[in-house]
Amino acid sequence: MDNTQTHDCPRSAAVTRRGFAATIAMIFGIVVGYGAGLWQFFRYLVPLQNKGKRKELFVGTLSEMPVGQSRNVKTPAGEEITLARVGDGGDAPEAGFKALSTKCPHLGCKVHWVAGKKEFFCPCHNGAFDKNGIAISGPPAKEGKNLSQYEVRVQKDNGWVFVMIPERKRYGA
Ligand code: FES
Repeated sequence: MDNTQTHDCPRSAAVTRRGFAATIAMIFGIVVGYGAGLWQFFRYLVPLQNKGKRKELFVGTLSEMPVGQSRNVKTPAGEEITLARVGDGGDAPEAGFKALSTKCPHLGCKVHWVAGKKEFFCPCHNGAFDKNGIAISGPPAKEGKNLSQYEVRVQKDNGWVFVMIPERKRYGA
């Protein structure tokens, strides 16, 4: 004769429920933890995807910048750019502008536009660049290092002049 009887023990059911809740909490923690890690990783990758995007930096108007004039502008990232009007450009006024970094590619001194010579000049070691930013004399020419160049856009209806600068999103910004 079998006297074995089964009883639902309320204590063991509570322990099982606690164990289940703990497992769920652990899985939730793992998902949230790894998910946050993956999210940060993908945010880190996003600037690489934005590499080709550019912003427009307003510099002035065509009438404010006659041929031969130049002005310096700073990008939000702190880079300085010289915008020089080296020619009229005719029907495409943007073709008459050159926007070049003021940072000499030799040792980083500041270059400036010399209207009379139609060249950019670096006073540190007498480096010179033509109107397109190509090194023509001094250490930059010996090393074959040219000035970084930026595209210029002129809005036809109002003559507003913009320099196109790369949009660099910083990690976490
Ligand atoms: S830093 Fe410009 S020529 Fe040396």
